[in-house]
Amino acid sequence: MSSNTFSTGILEWYNIHKRDLPWRNHPEPYHVLVSEIMLQQTQVSRVIEKFYEFTRRFPTLQDLARASKAEVIRAWSGLGYNRRALLLHRFAQVVVEEHQGIIPNTREELIKLPGIGPYTAGSIASFAFNKPEPAIDVNVRRIYMRYFEGKDQGAPMGKKEEQELYQLIKSTIPEDQSSALHNALMDFGSSVCTRDTPQCGGCPLRQACQFAPRYTIQKEKALFVMEKKVEKGVSENGRYIPNRIFRGRIVELVRKNENKEWLLEELGKAVKKDYSALEKDWLRSLCQGLQKDKLIVFTSQGERIVLHLPW
Ligand code: ADE
Repeated sequence: MSSNTFSTGILEWYNIHKRDLPWRNHPEPYHVLVSEIMLQQTQVSRVIEKFYEFTRRFPTLQDLARASKAEVIRAWSGLGYNRRALLLHRFAQVVVEEHQGIIPNTREELIKLPGIGPYTAGSIASFAFNKPEPAIDVNVRRIYMRYFEGKDQGAPMGKKEEQELYQLIKSTIPEDQSSALHNALMDFGSSVCTRDTPQCGGCPLRQACQFAPRYTIQKEKALFVMEKKVEKGVSENGRYIPNRIFRGRIVELVRKNENKEWLLEELGKAVKKDYSALEKDWLRSLCQGLQKDKLIVFTSQGERIVLHLPW
């Protein structure tokens, strides 16, 4: 059976090539949770050190729930996307308040909690509890669509196709090996079945893979080319910098200078090396966005602006 060949093959590959990652050593639910939230939008190599630091600072879910928002944001600094940290913190508090501090183990319960979408619900259920729950991120989707359908499916899919993919993945999860299979998929997707340069030549699954023959003949033409979404940003000293970076700098500054009253010009210069007065609207819109995400609160009058942390 093809799905059996698939999971056996990928698990054999994993046995030899597995990466040693800190959240895999002791896959307790809290560690899986922290790693999964950190790994959203941040590369594995950048997460490793932060994962150690964060779990040293907050060794348990209870420690995290008890901490203040400011402490959590501080421990998160360097990872960006601070909103994730606040959702993680809220998650910990809700689990302590409503689930006696025990992270739920089903997709249905997990998905109701703050910051948890379909992927993260599946990943906690499978990595932490070994439940046969598909965790479908872009890598997992790419591997299955290539192997079983011969398609390099990069674009978002319709509801029905998503459902079919979910069922297909579920059917390949061997009894009691969901965690291993998902870890294998993560590693396989980042080194063999990569988005831009799939290594079909040396791939142990190529025999039954629907995509390998196409790629071997058509090469790049077989790959889905996603229109690159350019992150919004502005130029700083000639380099394009995403707004996300400036948002991070503003939060950092507010943390260090609580309740300081700034001239807009002063604030601009403190977060952007070549700030000019023409960028006032841009700076205001960054502050508004941060306020909307509850990361700062600001009051402004003309050229004056006062920024606080909302906690
Ligand atoms: N990306 C998301 N979850 C991961 C995991 N557990 N291992 C490696 N990469 C990941």
